[in-house]
Amino acid sequence: MNACSAGKTFVAKRLPEAVSAAETDWLEILALYDLLGMVAPGPMVTLNRVVALAMAVGPGVALTEHAACADDPALLGHHRIPAIRAHLLELQGDLGAARADYLARFHVRRADGLLLSGAAAFIALWQVMPGWRWLGRFAMLPGITPVLELLYRGFLRLRPGIQRLVRAVDTSHLPASFVGDLRSDHAGETGAVWIYRGMLWATRDEAVRAFAAHHLHTEMQHLEKMSALLPPLRRSWLLTGWRVAGFATGALPALFGRQAVFSTVAAVESFVVQHYQHQIDALAGQSSHAALRQVLVDCQSDELDHRDEAQAQLAQSPGWLLAAWCAAVGRGSALAVTLARRL
Ligand SMILES: [Fe+2]
Ligand SMILES: [Fe+2]
Repeated sequence: MNACSAGKTFVAKRLPEAVSAAETDWLEILALYDLLGMVAPGPMVTLNRVVALAMAVGPGVALTEHAACADDPALLGHHRIPAIRAHLLELQGDLGAARADYLARFHVRRADGLLLSGAAAFIALWQVMPGWRWLGRFAMLPGITPVLELLYRGFLRLRPGIQRLVRAVDTSHLPASFVGDLRSDHAGETGAVWIYRGMLWATRDEAVRAFAAHHLHTEMQHLEKMSALLPPLRRSWLLTGWRVAGFATGALPALFGRQAVFSTVAAVESFVVQHYQHQIDALAGQSSHAALRQVLVDCQSDELDHRDEAQAQLAQSPGWLLAAWCAAVGRGSALAVTLARRL
């Protein structure tokens, strides 16, 4: 037997001699792990030594050494990393942080105090649950537990993706009837951002560029607010179309001068102000959604300023062609809202 095997065997033999953790001579176990670390160093030896260090000296210093273990590429993602950190944090009395680490894997503490995790924890649970005991007995057949543990670790790798997917569709923080409206708001603010990008692309008129740059900044803030409210997979599927439509709605009038730009903005913003007003009215008196209503009120207030600013800059009433264009923009906005509510 070489030094490595002898060391591991010696540590393993010392542990069962103790009746409980309290009766274990942890200083001796720590010394043995130090010895083992010299003759047969490895990430698992280091990690096991952290546990002995916690029991012999205290969890504070052990947590420092644990952090170094967690950075070891050989232990990246290993299930014992969060399990041991949770144990150390629990020893330190930081139950909140320990809970977060325990939740990284499924844990069960048996009646005799033994803490199990992963597949072993599920099996322990099945063994005492009425109707599930047959599964507990099946899992104890030779070779089944390691397979279940491998499946569980596979699930843990998938779990962050599953959680992201759930978050990407979760609208439980919104009134159910409002998801369609907020989808249209998000689509509308996307279009608004691209209207001003279209203007900036199409014109060299400094007055129009200053106007568009200022409005673009506000519309981007609106879009951020809507993006924070509406999870990605609940947004309109037609966002590319809204971007293109917005760009064209901004660029086209910008090619024809200030009068066309300000008339278009006034037409769009007049529609948007009304669109927000319907939603604000619908949420009136719903105290549980006061924060959502306030977001809509704040956005509407900006849209009112945009409309008034555009109208104030109009030097004359629009001619028939521009009036027809503005009417088309208003009807197009209404159609876009109808589509975005559904798609
Ligand atoms: Fe906006
Ligand atoms: Fe606006």
